[in-house]
Amino acid sequence: MWKSVLAALIAAFAFAGHAAADQFPSRPITVIVPFAAGGPSDAMARILGERMKTALGQPLLIENVTGAGGSIGVGRAVHAAADGYTISFGHLGTHVANGAIYKLPYDLVADLEPVVLLPSNPMIIVSNNKVPAKSLQELLAWLKSRPSPANAGTAGAGSGSHIAGLYFENITGIKLQYVPYRGTAPAMNDLVAGQIDLMIDQTSNSINQVRAGTIRAYAITDDKRVDSAPDIPTTDEAGLPGFHMTLWSGLWVPKGTPSEIVAKLNAAAVEALNDPTVKGQFDNLGLQMPPAGQTTPEALGAWQQSEIAKWWPVLKTAHVSVE
Ligand code: MLT
Repeated sequence: MWKSVLAALIAAFAFAGHAAADQFPSRPITVIVPFAAGGPSDAMARILGERMKTALGQPLLIENVTGAGGSIGVGRAVHAAADGYTISFGHLGTHVANGAIYKLPYDLVADLEPVVLLPSNPMIIVSNNKVPAKSLQELLAWLKSRPSPANAGTAGAGSGSHIAGLYFENITGIKLQYVPYRGTAPAMNDLVAGQIDLMIDQTSNSINQVRAGTIRAYAITDDKRVDSAPDIPTTDEAGLPGFHMTLWSGLWVPKGTPSEIVAKLNAAAVEALNDPTVKGQFDNLGLQMPPAGQTTPEALGAWQQSEIAKWWPVLKTAHVSVE
């Protein structure tokens, strides 16, 4: 008797789960961006979300939940219902580095389901226009000649701009004084205003300010130039060979989200990534599409874990301060 009741209950729950997945999405979806509006993460999420709406038939609402290098926003998503209506936008900093820098109240792998790997971009070394350097070599000399460390804007400990700064310090032996913001959009405002000296920023965030002449670019942290900004040299060309860093982004949902729903979100994101208008927008920002075959949920999961294996030992030995 009880076995048949239990079997009926299991079947009922399974049917309800499939029915929920079939009807998904039946209301707007929230995308939690863990940095301030107007920054590179926010910009990518909004461009992608606008196009995913077409495929999903429901709007994707961006919610900027900032603080602690993006770890607060990720935590909000981790603890949301596993129903597909809350998506975590993040990147190398929030979904890899923060696990080595903060005592997180969640596990970046065990508590999240990967959905899709998104575009990536190299970082770019930029300064305000008052800095008396016209090349990377002159910038390095200026930094070394200063009596105190230059101010470098970041999006908080563990952010991409912070990790890039740590890497820069390690390669050059030049100390920086980090100035944390809730994202690199507010940091950019202070850079343009001359309140901070420099940033090692996502190219997508700085490229339009460089084009407008409101800040100065020195190099791209890659071995090839950005097609849409061919006049900016690489670090290899500019005198800091091997200083390469690419910041990739991705989408995740809370662990336990039904696989049919993950598949629907993945399909909508891949359709958006293949949209010519979206590709043109990302290309203009210096963003590179994920490699073919790397846009499955499994591929993001494997990539995230390989990046954890690469970066955690480096960051843990660096004893990065989260103050
Ligand atoms: C970062 O530096 O981690 C991001 O570029 C911050 C942001 O997207 O605002």
